[in-house]
Amino acid sequence: MFFLTSYLALAIAHYLLLFCNGQTTHTVTVGQLGSFYDPPQLLTGVNDTVTFIFAGDNHTVTQSSFDNPCSPLAGGFDSGIVINSNSNSSNAPSPMWTIRITNSSEPIYFHCETGDHCKDGMVGVINPPNNQAFMQFQSSAMIATPSVRICGSK
Ligand SMILES: *[C@@H]1O[C@H](CO)[C@@H](O)[C@H](O)[C@H]1NC(C)=O
Ligand SMILES: *[C@@H]1O[C@H](CO)[C@@H](O)[C@H](O)[C@H]1NC(C)=O
Ligand SMILES: *[C@@H]1O[C@H](CO)[C@@H](O)[C@H](O)[C@H]1NC(C)=O
Ligand SMILES: *[C@@H]1O[C@H](CO)[C@@H](O)[C@H](O)[C@H]1NC(C)=O
Repeated sequence: MFFLTSYLALAIAHYLLLFCNGQTTHTVTVGQLGSFYDPPQLLTGVNDTVTFIFAGDNHTVTQSSFDNPCSPLAGGFDSGIVINSNSNSSNAPSPMWTIRITNSSEPIYFHCETGDHCKDGMVGVINPPNNQAFMQFQSSAMIATPSVRICGSK
């Protein structure tokens, strides 16, 4: 009973904290059953977090730009290759990786760097400037020359 009460208190405190700060936690599933980023585009507020759940094996979340969809952005974020050796087991936990959004007016474009994933269309955007941005970004990714991963550079 004590446990339940204190857990409830904690949960309520946590909820109030979230409520007061107006922050939301968004999740994006990565590579589940051969899919790409789900959802591939989302809108956030300032200080919201986006957690990528690596359901599939061997993917990255690597920041790029609208003009160069399949090339890492200089100074941008990169999850690095995430291996999920449990990807075939539906009840095993998946690795997660989280970013915090500091400016919700600035679109954040990202792609998967492994294999041909980017040019197959594995891209996403946070806070797209308009409804067409994701489709345009994905189309140009599918004709982009993928970046070269130089051995030992990361
Ligand atoms: C976001 O977080 C920063 C640092 O904690 C804070 O200064 C700022 O007021 C927050 N902005 C919003 C809109 O919550
Ligand atoms: C998951 O299963 C697929 C298809 O059976 C197989 O190709 C892949 O190597 C497996 N992945 C892991 C991490 O065991
Ligand atoms: C947020 O991003 C927009 C668009 O890039 C930019 O105009 C604005 O100055 C940025 N705001 C801050 C506080 O950095
Ligand atoms: C992950 O993908 C890279 C290609 O980008 C490949 O060289 C590597 O063997 C893959 N690793 C696994 C564990 O599938």
